[in-house]
Amino acid sequence: MNASTTPDDPRGAYFDQLYRHDADPWLVRQRWYEERKRALLLASLPQQRYRHAYEPGCGNGELTVDLARRCERVLAADLSAEALQLAQRRLEQAGHAGNVSFARHRLPQDWPRILPGGDKFDLIVISEIAYYLSPEELARVVEHSVAGLAPGGSIVACHWRAPFAQRIQSTVRVHAAFQDAPGLHRLLRHEETDFLLGVWSNDARSVAQREGFA
Ligand SMILES: C[S@@+](CC[C@H](N)C(=O)[O-])C[C@H]1O[C@@H](n2cnc3c(N)ncnc32)[C@H](O)[C@@H]1O
Repeated sequence: MNASTTPDDPRGAYFDQLYRHDADPWLVRQRWYEERKRALLLASLPQQRYRHAYEPGCGNGELTVDLARRCERVLAADLSAEALQLAQRRLEQAGHAGNVSFARHRLPQDWPRILPGGDKFDLIVISEIAYYLSPEELARVVEHSVAGLAPGGSIVACHWRAPFAQRIQSTVRVHAAFQDAPGLHRLLRHEETDFLLGVWSNDARSVAQREGFA
């Protein structure tokens, strides 16, 4: 794991403390709500397989395990060193550590713009993280997502809708920022009382069009 060049900040300390106190602070390993939401997110992805995914804010790695099954490589990142340790352990337990690398990234500044060989991500997963960002930070994350997306790649965003103390932006605003980004086309919008799920691509074709039967 890349130990990070990012100095600790109050937000990192907040999440570190949460994970130190409880390895599963949002009960993502226990709640049917979370299991179902992960299944919906995975089912929403337009491609069966991905080459290289980026999952910032990977938390304790529960979604990372599912992504590792769909992707040749996953770069899982988080602001919290504690979260990264939990995620690494979870991937090892699941037998998927081989195709997942971990990095301590604070968005937006640590977004991995230049990958070795100029490689771009064909899947970017923004799950339950963007409401912690200011509008300016989110705008940079959207810009990086667009610039770092391989042709035909997918951006998926999924966010809880209810108010909570640490929220900086509404989920509606977060998803609108991706919707309004030049060069992105929405392929899917799933709306529930509890969360929004959206998928965008730089390729407007539907899944059937991509498979050549529509
Ligand atoms: C609610 S958890 C979501 C975990 C996982 N993505 C999921 O959907 O279950 C939010 C995670 O985002 C991380 N995080 C919050 N702000 C961040 C930032 N600016 N950069 C990187 N990670 C951040 C936190 O440390 C935490 O692990």
